[in-house]
Amino acid sequence: MRRLLVAGNWKMNASVAMTQSLLSELRAAQIDQCDVAVFPPFPYLTQAAELLSGSDIALGAQNCATEESGAFTGEVAAPMLADVGCAMALVGHSERRTLYGETDETVLAKTRQLLDNNITAVVCIGETLAERQAGQAEAVVAQQLKLLLEQLNTAQWQRIILAYEPVWAIGTGETATPEQAQAIHAFIRSQLQVLGADVAQATRILYGGSVKAANAAELFSQPDIDGGLVGGASLDATEFLGICRA
Ligand code: G3H
Repeated sequence: MRRLLVAGNWKMNASVAMTQSLLSELRAAQIDQCDVAVFPPFPYLTQAAELLSGSDIALGAQNCATEESGAFTGEVAAPMLADVGCAMALVGHSERRTLYGETDETVLAKTRQLLDNNITAVVCIGETLAERQAGQAEAVVAQQLKLLLEQLNTAQWQRIILAYEPVWAIGTGETATPEQAQAIHAFIRSQLQVLGADVAQATRILYGGSVKAANAAELFSQPDIDGGLVGGASLDATEFLGICRA
C-alpha cells in the first residue's frame, strides 16, 4: 500500500518571514492523511529544519550538485543537504532540464549523490506540449527513465520517488485530466516492472502541474497517482493544506 505524498516545491520564492509563517501554519495543522514535504530554496533550509524539528513534515531541497565536494563555485552538494537535515531532494525538474540544460546523465549523477547520502531523490519526468501533440509522451518519459532503470539497483530504487509533470501543465493553470494523468502513470509503473513487481508496486509516482485544492481529490483518487508535486499552490498555507486534505 503506497502512502500519498504531497510535496510543496516553493521554486525561487521565499523570505525568512514567509518561511516562518508558512511552516508554522503547516506544522500547526497536524496533517495525518498523507505524508507532507516542503522544498524551500537553499538559503532557507536551515531555518526550515529548525521550524520543522520534531514534526512529520519532511524537508527537501530543489537541486544538488553532481559532485560530492570541491571547486564547484555556486553548487550545493548532497552531503551538505544531509548535514542540514534534508530527507529529500528534487532532481531533473523540467525547469532544470529546460533552463539549465540538465540531461538524463546529469539526473543520474545527482540521483546517485543523493542516494549515497541517504536522501530520497524525487526524480521529475514529463513531456512538452509539442511532444504530447506528436504522440511522443510515453516515449519521452521512457527515455527519461532509461538510465535510472539501467544503472540503479532495486535497493537504490527504494529511495526514489518519481514525479510526472507534463511541462505544458506546469504553472499554466492547465491540468492534465485525471484520466490523462492516470494513463501515463500506469505506463510509468509498467516501465518499472523491469526491476520487478515489488519495485513497480512500491514506487510512489506523484503528479505535478497546476495541482490545487479544487482538483487534487480527483487526481489523487486515480490508482497510480500517489500524491502531488505542487508548485504555485504550495506558497499559500490554506491552499496547500486543502491539497493535503484532499
Ligand atoms: O514542482 C512543481 C511543478 O513544477 C508544478 O508547478 O503547481 O505551479 O504548476 P505548478
